[in-house]
Amino acid sequence: MAKNVGILAMHIYFPPTCVQQEALEAHDGASKGKYTIGHGQDCMGFCTEVEDVISMSLTAVSSLLEKYNVDPKQIGRLEVGSETVIDRSKSIKTFLMQIFEKCGNTDIEGVDSTNACYGGTAALFNCVNWVESCSWDGRYGLVVCTDSSVYAEGPARPTGGAAAIAMLIGPDAPITFESKFRGSHMSHAYDFYKPNLASEYPVVDGKLSQTCYLMALDSCYKQFCAKYEKSTGKQFSISDAAYFVFHSPYNKLVQKSFARLVFDDSVRNASSIDEAAKEKLAPFSTLSGDESYQNRDLEKVSQQVAKPLYDAKVQPTTLIPKQVGNMYTASLYAAFISLLHNKSSELAGKRVILFSYGSGSTATMFSLKLHEGQKPFSLSNIATVMNVSTKLKSRHEFSAVKFVETINLMEHRYGGKDFVTSKDCSLLAPGTYYLTEVDSMYRRFYAKKPVDGACENGSLVNGH
Ligand code: ACO
Repeated sequence: MAKNVGILAMHIYFPPTCVQQEALEAHDGASKGKYTIGHGQDCMGFCTEVEDVISMSLTAVSSLLEKYNVDPKQIGRLEVGSETVIDRSKSIKTFLMQIFEKCGNTDIEGVDSTNACYGGTAALFNCVNWVESCSWDGRYGLVVCTDSSVYAEGPARPTGGAAAIAMLIGPDAPITFESKFRGSHMSHAYDFYKPNLASEYPVVDGKLSQTCYLMALDSCYKQFCAKYEKSTGKQFSISDAAYFVFHSPYNKLVQKSFARLVFDDSVRNASSIDEAAKEKLAPFSTLSGDESYQNRDLEKVSQQVAKPLYDAKVQPTTLIPKQVGNMYTASLYAAFISLLHNKSSELAGKRVILFSYGSGSTATMFSLKLHEGQKPFSLSNIATVMNVSTKLKSRHEFSAVKFVETINLMEHRYGGKDFVTSKDCSLLAPGTYYLTEVDSMYRRFYAKKPVDGACENGSLVNGH
């Protein structure tokens, strides 16, 4: 049996193109501060016509393998989480097989998992379970979360984003799972869904999606606490974890979510909440669940009470989600990567709680235990190799007008065939994959920008 199974290494790719939320506010005629303070977002990343979920995941996987010197033959399972459906039959995983086939490795289990932003977590659990199972053949698992989140013109548009994250799974990992402590909530809801397959844009009931998220959070926390208490004989409270990482559609919802856990702890009379805070929250303790989700005073007071704890336990996780936006399946793991980036030297021995939410709805709260680990699979090395600051700083800011033009072109191209892209990879870093063509049979072709930086202009990954 493999021991201490978990995440050995992580890699994140987000597009080098972004738009400032302040510029979008002005462009959309929104009141000043609506996207920056109201949503809590700074900037939004997006794909141009040469990038998509497949190119981003090709880049994330090949970069991880190269940077950690992992031979593609050492991968025995590959799972992808994504809700950006490009093909209703052919999985994104099979596109990624191009990297492995070249090296003679076609013996790789796993396909795609899809349920809104939750698919990445399902993929991660599948891979961890495989390594822990009697089917494990001693090789690594690889998980990829990849999404491009774009919305139709309107209030949801500033809550987009795009990224791909690759995670290497195996034994003796620096990031391990406390699998006994896990709470899930799965139910039927129409809060955000994509019934129109001709469009990349979801149908969103924005307000309902916020309530569904918070209801799922409450339910998962209740289950999580019950399992913790059953297993350890002790009450769980927010004091028992160093950090809380949330799926982040936009930062304001993360602030509200942590405040909700503080309120839950105060109702449970947990030791994490001091007397003064309990007094402030007491008037709301008799509200029914439904009333409490809509109560603006509770929202305000609980956020005030939670602020110092939020700054300590959540704020270090918010960098990439605030800068890149909602990356759907990758959002939660981008928040976790922000924590590794900000605090890598202080994390050994700490417990981190993650909350994964996917509309529809599916959610799990789970617990990770962090250990420094041995280089190259150590927390400090993962943070160094990901080089988040440089990647964020070297992005190219588009004006809001140019962003909208780009989105409009993508909208027109979505689901289309028989076109070649501009093949302009000048904004992409060397080693980045990009889309060159979709032929008359809807077959997609990609090229990789070589290390010397020149665009290949048509040299395709599969050699066509
Ligand atoms: N300055 C500061 N704050 C402002 C300003 C301003 N000028 N104007 C508005 N605000 C605040 C509002 O008070 C509100 O704050 P609150 O949340 O504390 O009440 C916030 O900005 C948002 O404004 P609203 O008018 O309430 O909402 P909006 O119509 O902009 O819609 C929403 C926001 C629902 C998030 C929308 O962008 C959306 O539908 N996004 C996609 C769905 C989504 O992300 N759902 C979350 C979970 S599901 C998932 O992950 C996909």
